[in-house]
Amino acid sequence: MLTSNPKFAYKTFKKIKAPSSLYLADDTKRSCLQLQVDLMNDFGNIVRLPHFSPCFAITHPDYVKHIFLTNQSNYIKSDKNYEGLTDIIGAGIITNNGEPWHEQRLNLAPLFQPHQLPHYFPNMISLTQEVAARWQQFAKQKTSFNLTTEMMSLTLKISARNFLNEELDEAFIKQVIAFSQSMNNYVGKAFYFFKFLPFPTNIRLRRQKKIVDKTLLGWIQKRRALPEPPADLLTQLLQMRNKKNEPLSDTQILAELKNFLVASYETVSHTLTWTWLNLIKNPACLEKVRHEIQTVHNSNPDHSHPEEGAARCPVSFPHLPYTKMVIEESMRLHPPAWVITRRALRGDELEGYFIPAGSYLVISPYAIHRHPAYWHDPEKFIPERFTEENKKSINRYSYLPFGAGPRTCIASHLAIAEAQTILAGLIPSFDLTLLPKQTLRPLALITLSIKDGLWVTATTRSQ
Ligand code: HEM
Repeated sequence: MLTSNPKFAYKTFKKIKAPSSLYLADDTKRSCLQLQVDLMNDFGNIVRLPHFSPCFAITHPDYVKHIFLTNQSNYIKSDKNYEGLTDIIGAGIITNNGEPWHEQRLNLAPLFQPHQLPHYFPNMISLTQEVAARWQQFAKQKTSFNLTTEMMSLTLKISARNFLNEELDEAFIKQVIAFSQSMNNYVGKAFYFFKFLPFPTNIRLRRQKKIVDKTLLGWIQKRRALPEPPADLLTQLLQMRNKKNEPLSDTQILAELKNFLVASYETVSHTLTWTWLNLIKNPACLEKVRHEIQTVHNSNPDHSHPEEGAARCPVSFPHLPYTKMVIEESMRLHPPAWVITRRALRGDELEGYFIPAGSYLVISPYAIHRHPAYWHDPEKFIPERFTEENKKSINRYSYLPFGAGPRTCIASHLAIAEAQTILAGLIPSFDLTLLPKQTLRPLALITLSIKDGLWVTATTRSQ
């Protein structure tokens, strides 16, 4: 329930600036991403946005800390985006608030602690090797391909194997990717408001959801019948008990699985696509990454794959610090979760500004990662910002690819390790070239990707 706070009744607060309609009308000429940056640069760290309820764009790290950490229980996930998402993926760890969320978080966090990571590597490595084998064929036949869908299909397969011990066939992968594209449009655009109308987009989304749900439910039921289930996320969910000591229903497990699939595969794949693009555009950085990976392979010859062109095992991902810096800098420039929203339950004070109960807060990692007070040359790709030494001077709340506070990404270590593993498996074997005449326009929906994907050709490298 949203409540006003009597303690603020007689206080005077600082005025929050708002852009004029004329300023916003110019929105047609720029992307919503650039608009967020412009609002920050032209109006400051808190800006009132036109909306039927009070709505503020927040870009100061101190305010972010207040919302995500200090007074986080006042700021919940509850707006049209979350309602739209819950509609499609169900009430699970991403979409829930309060006690149901807390219970799930406590139960599932152990699966993602750093010491668990090595369990996830074998599947990442072998599935990356399959991609390398396919790229060999592409290279031989000089066939161009969509790197975005390649990365989506790979990360989806990795999630399915690691969390569900399931193999995905190409037809189902296509269905899941189409389903998430429809969901991105539904949640990220205005369709949510018209969800009950029989638009072709809505009908298509419902049909895709049915197919995905049916397959996942089949896997849940199959797993229930297994006498010795494997130790993975699905088994953990089946063994969980709620406060009344009851097991989760199939519907609850289905929602959790969809929450995890959605959270895990698009984010990592888009991180990889942006990272590849940055490496292609910055050959000196690519050479450094390649050298680092090669050095690790050479020092662990047992783990190198003997076949020509096949992906090689990264084995010791912590020994790829420069590769990690490149990924971190790519997520600074293009954070897959480019915007994070919250709603105020009660009225609150934010460093002298009044936030009425029910306000919507729009926190834009995309803009904050370009804040001139915290990042020099913000549009430049500079991986060295993330050396261990330089990291010490980065304000924790000015870098938010994984959010912050108790609701920070449950799998941030896994996500980085997965991206490192995939790059380490492919970079030594291939040179990628961008297909000419691509517009490379960012597509900001639930996640931040490239419109129509990143098209490349591959050539093999002799190692
Ligand atoms: C580079 C890849 C990833 C990025 C950029 C990313 C980003 C994020 C962000 C920003 C949040 C917080 C959202 C908010 O506060 O509203 C989040 C939450 C979450 N992420 Fe990730 N994520 C990534 C990979 C993953 C992976 C691989 C998994 C699963 C294995 C995952 C599972 C989750 C879950 C379950 C939550 C909800 C946590 C909670 O509310 O307690 N993410 N992620």
